[in-house]
Amino acid sequence: MPELSSLFSPIKINQMELPNRIVMAPMTVDYALDDETPSDRQLAYYSERAAGGPAMINLEVCSVDADHRYQQHSLGLHSDFQIEKHKKLVDVIHAHGVKCQPQLSHPGPESLAPFYKQLQPMGPSPARAETTRQLCREIAPEEIEAVIEMYGEAARRSREAGYDGIELHAAHGYMMLGSFLSPLRNFRTDEYAGGKFEGRAKLLLDVLARIRQKVGGDYPITLRMSGFERQSGGREINDSQRLAPLLVDAGVDCFHVSGGVGDANITQIITGPEYGAGFNVSAAEAIKQVVDVPVLVVGQNMDPVAADRLIEEGRVDMIAMARSLLCDPELPNKAKSGRLREINRCNVCQGCTDMMTSEFNGAACSLNPRAGKEADYPLEKAAASKKVVVVGGGPAGMAAAMYASDRGHQVTLLEREGELGGAFRLASTLFPGNQLYLDFLRARMEDLPVEVRLETEANEASIKELGADAVIVATGGRFTSPDIAGDDAPNVLKGKAVLDLVARMGADPSDDDLGLEGRVVIVGANLIGMELAEALAARGKQVHLVEPSGRMAMPAGKKRRADHCKQLDRLGVPVNTGVAVKEITAEGVVLSLAKGRESTVRAGTVILVGHPEADSLLEEKLAGVAETVRSIGDAVSFGLTQNAARAALDAAYSI
Ligand SMILES: Cc1cc2nc3c(=O)[nH]c(=O)nc-3n(C[C@H](O)[C@H](O)[C@H](O)COP(=O)(O)O)c2cc1C
Ligand code: SF4
Repeated sequence: MPELSSLFSPIKINQMELPNRIVMAPMTVDYALDDETPSDRQLAYYSERAAGGPAMINLEVCSVDADHRYQQHSLGLHSDFQIEKHKKLVDVIHAHGVKCQPQLSHPGPESLAPFYKQLQPMGPSPARAETTRQLCREIAPEEIEAVIEMYGEAARRSREAGYDGIELHAAHGYMMLGSFLSPLRNFRTDEYAGGKFEGRAKLLLDVLARIRQKVGGDYPITLRMSGFERQSGGREINDSQRLAPLLVDAGVDCFHVSGGVGDANITQIITGPEYGAGFNVSAAEAIKQVVDVPVLVVGQNMDPVAADRLIEEGRVDMIAMARSLLCDPELPNKAKSGRLREINRCNVCQGCTDMMTSEFNGAACSLNPRAGKEADYPLEKAAASKKVVVVGGGPAGMAAAMYASDRGHQVTLLEREGELGGAFRLASTLFPGNQLYLDFLRARMEDLPVEVRLETEANEASIKELGADAVIVATGGRFTSPDIAGDDAPNVLKGKAVLDLVARMGADPSDDDLGLEGRVVIVGANLIGMELAEALAARGKQVHLVEPSGRMAMPAGKKRRADHCKQLDRLGVPVNTGVAVKEITAEGVVLSLAKGRESTVRAGTVILVGHPEADSLLEEKLAGVAETVRSIGDAVSFGLTQNAARAALDAAYSI
């Protein structure tokens, strides 16, 4: 068992003593009340994250300006009436011995003021915010003084509310401070001039001076900034290295190093798999060389063992984790006590942000359906312990068994095959992140008092014999392939042959041939088709994707879809959408185009991905066999892992 003694060693920021090096990074979860104060939902969410054992929670954006909110349900610290309400949040976090600080920010160009106050956003220079599509105006010199004072006053309120310090947000080349700092957004010619280092830094230095004036020298100030903006014309690491010592002189006690600039999908900040672990570490390390205050790094630092090594090697001082703690708030405690296999690891699937923008109910997590719903699904035993039979050992079935067992029920899981995982084993071959969830669930099945019976067919008799009070059917869906003229040719793979292909890919990652002739045309660019195209192209196959509908990557959201589109582009996979497939011939796939035109996409092999469909047969057969019989997951409707996990949680709590 790794001791992780560096990760769990104490450190000081200014006068603040922290027992370990894990900081929860700011995440605007969009749960706040209309008056930008913490809701009960938010208190429950943060209470559980504090209970999980980080040293400190750096809260989400808190707007310093009453006229400019950041998100519909984000927080504010712009008015005195908010102090008392923030105290409640401070108290629930302090109750677990965890420190906390709000992230103070003026939303600047990213403000939602046009929607709430009929006001135009302000920034260093006119610009259109990619996230809101709103145009901001240049802030006048006399308004700048008011903004500086707002920061100072918000810091005063933070101290009065009992926060242990503040985090000042100047990262990502966006919002007010980040925009002034970035040559990509600041085109001013006055004393804040974007063309000059001193001009870009001036607002940040003025704000720091005012904050110090209001809160004194002993109140910890963390500064979040992008070490490297990762954009042509943006700030480079030498700019940050020049700036950092000046910021220390101005009162910064800790640097929180992020990277990139904001774009419509925040792709450089809330990153997908292509970024890889620790993508901001080099920038943080470079900054650490020029300052003598602690340096905190954020960005896919999700593995506690790797995090420990970064600190041990002296590359950074602390590790900020965002999504890892959305996914598993108990990660710090589990890491500390060596229970690494119990960690539900974030797989950077982008579900949290995709759900926020599609469901409008705040942040959620694909692999942790309790995130943001802690009060609805409390960590308590059920009133009575019942006999629960779960049929099917895919992710939905294993998750249901886990939650039901956690609730104190006696759970038996029946799986027809000789191993757990179901179709998710194949999904893990195509999207390796799925393997993390699969490993986690399998470990839970081993460690919890769940009786797993493999190679066991569930039927009325076997379930009656188990004396089940409740049955959860999680047997997955079935695949249907489109009927296309010519699809009976030997070079066309459909139905089970597609699943067999993916199984072969999983069994031998070095088999680049896979028995596929020539160019591969995949018909169907849903999420499965896109991932299959990527996996084949990565093995050196020439691949072409054809999607009859106009939609790609269904049922994924726009951020994950964008990640896959970029990846296909990098791998050189052409994609045609909105084209009807007429037939498959010896030459390839014939497409019907507008105005009666046709074209043929050359193919040696054609793969018809098909569509998964719900399969309610078993639920119908088992009706009446127990008090409750309920289907979940793909057995009900095909969806992402988030649907399976949510339905599993809900089914377990309904017993
Ligand atoms: C739902 C969500 C909301 C976020 N909100 C903020 C925010 O309010 N302020 C901020 O500076 N970063 C915000 N971030 C970015 C994170 O702090 C962090 O930089 C990013 O997620 C990368 O870290 P990770 O790989 O550990 O998740 C948010 C991230 C997520 C997933
Ligand atoms: S939704 Fe996906 S990316 Fe977001 S925290 Fe959960 S596992 Fe991570």
